[in-house]
This record gives sequence, structure tokens and C-alpha cells, in this order.
Amino acid sequence: MKRGFGLILIAAVVAAIAGVLLVNSSRPAADQAANQTVPAAGGETGDGQAEADGRVTVQGFAFKPAVLTVKKGTTVTWTNRDSAKHNVVSAEDSPAQGLNGPLLAKGESYEYTFTETGTYQYFCEPHPYMKGTVEVTE
Ligand code: CO
Repeated sequence: MKRGFGLILIAAVVAAIAGVLLVNSSRPAADQAANQTVPAAGGETGDGQAEADGRVTVQGFAFKPAVLTVKKGTTVTWTNRDSAKHNVVSAEDSPAQGLNGPLLAKGESYEYTFTETGTYQYFCEPHPYMKGTVEVTE
């Protein structure tokens, strides 16, 4: 009788430990699933924004990214992060023209909406070695 109760107690403890282990092993999987969902949703949002607008950072006397591909109808914003002033002007030999921004002080931006497809090559007038391209696709 006493021994039988002991076995039941041991069985209950084993069952409880197994239960805890089960819960703990399933919890990281749930966390992982939750974590995988978040970046996936963020990535979709990012892609959506990339199609709706484009951004170029002007930093370290360079356009970043140097080559940006966007869909027709996209508004691209160039923002100067340098203390030096930069601008965005279509290169004379660029297949597609239209960029003609003012000199931007640090923190200032220039926006251009690309309504036609084409290859838009541009540069910075004070620093002609600063070059960039926007590829506008259908
Ligand atoms: Co410049």
C-alpha cells in the first residue's frame, strides 16, 4: 500500500517533469515562429515602400546607392548628410534628362518624380566625380 503510493508519486513527478519539458521545448518553437513572422511582414512593408518611393543618401561625397532601380511614377528623394553642399543634376550625355536640383545643405532634400522610363545618369556639379544613376522601369 505504502509502496504503491510511492510509485504513483514517482509517476506523477515524472509526468510533471515531462510536462514541463514538453512545454519548454514547444515554447522556443512558438517564439521562433513569431520571430519569423515579424521580419517577413517587415520585409513586405519595405518592398511596398521601395515601389512607392526611392531614397538616395548623399554622404561621404557619394550617392548611396549609386544605382537605384525604381518603377515609373516613383518619387525619389536625395538627402544630403554631408556638411559640404551637393546637388543632383542630369549628366549632359545621360540618355534621360530632367534632374536639376539646387545645392543642398546638410539635412536638405531634393525630390524628383520619374514619369518616364529610362536611364537617368546624374552628377554633383561642385564635385563632378560624384555620379549616380536611376533606372526607371515599367
Ligand atoms: Co557633391
